[in-house]
Amino acid sequence: MAREAILQADAQLEDQAIQSLRPKRLSEFIGQEKVVAQLKLTMAAAAHRGEILDHILLHGPPGLGKTTLATIVAAEMGVNIKVSSGPAIERPGDLAAIITNLSAGDVLFIDEIHRLRRNVEELLYPAMEDFKLDLIIGEGPSAQSIRLDVPRFTLVGATTRTGLLSSPLRDRFEVIFHLDFYSDQELQTIVERGARLLGVVISSAGAAEIARRARGTPRVANRLLKRVRDYAQVKAQGDIDRQVARRALELLEVDESGLDQLDRSILQAIIVKFAGGPVGLDTLAASLSEEKDTISEVYEPFLLKKGFIQRTPQGRVATELAYRHLGLRPPAQSLPLLPAEPESSSGG
Ligand SMILES: Nc1ncnc2c1ncn2[C@@H]1O[C@H](COP(=O)(O)OP(=O)(O)OP(=O)(O)O)[C@@H](O)[C@H]1O
Ligand SMILES: [Mg+2]
Repeated sequence: MAREAILQADAQLEDQAIQSLRPKRLSEFIGQEKVVAQLKLTMAAAAHRGEILDHILLHGPPGLGKTTLATIVAAEMGVNIKVSSGPAIERPGDLAAIITNLSAGDVLFIDEIHRLRRNVEELLYPAMEDFKLDLIIGEGPSAQSIRLDVPRFTLVGATTRTGLLSSPLRDRFEVIFHLDFYSDQELQTIVERGARLLGVVISSAGAAEIARRARGTPRVANRLLKRVRDYAQVKAQGDIDRQVARRALELLEVDESGLDQLDRSILQAIIVKFAGGPVGLDTLAASLSEEKDTISEVYEPFLLKKGFIQRTPQGRVATELAYRHLGLRPPAQSLPLLPAEPESSSGG
């Protein structure tokens, strides 16, 4: 858990540093076209009816814009946003205090909503459905339950893992959006926008180079941009072209596919320590002295998406691509899966 806390603190610092890059309006939000289109429709409909916005659940890997979208929704609707998170709301009383302090129409954003405690979550159900809080006053035999009206509000929940959300909670969201990885083109636009805001000159080839290695993730794109900018200021003339970007990224040990050291260690472990897999998540995490959640939430989605690993009922398996990426010879039985290629017999 210590490492998780550090990673989170890191992410928060990083986020503060790139706060200025966070889009504030929907018009500045790049990509996720389907989500944006549906969101516009939902917001327009609510405004048209003069009603508050339906509860929205956002899910998808870290850094894809869930928090950003929540703040944008509030800005576009012209309401306040109150931000909290599943683990931060320890007791039902904490949630009651948050909700009773909302004004009508406000957005309540609960990050990591899958980590809400059970008794807190149960208090949320009637609040979401009927805008009522069922509170127990007093203790023991004299305890009384009272039902309190609360302002009509919009709950925006975010989670990296819908699988962990209880179905009663999931069912109470009228709108559910899945955020997916961004295309290289979209990330390039994000990098170019970031550079503009940071006042850095970047060539489109330089931006493309950063985008290509950004794991489909805007947060990573912005982070790499800042690191590359530092490099450019110290080692080059301050401007970022393709060459500068490549050299900086090499120094950062972010490879051509956007894999970092831990990605490569994961692949290496599956291949070398576990003979290519299958290996269970617990075993894999233990062998790397890493948090299970870090691997499954931050690293795995991208490795799966890129086809470096596969998930089987028995565990994770390294694909042929993973072997090749590490410059290793894939085992013979996986060769028939490959389309016939002249160099395949050389073992890469
Ligand atoms: N569509 C986008 N266009 C431009 N920049 C974006 C976009 N989405 C996200 N970003 C940038 O990426 C950063 C990370 O986004 P955000 O914090 O919203 O991700 P998240 O999904 O909430 O991540 P986590 O699951 O870790 O909380 C933001 O600070 C913002 O600068
Ligand atoms: Mg977030």
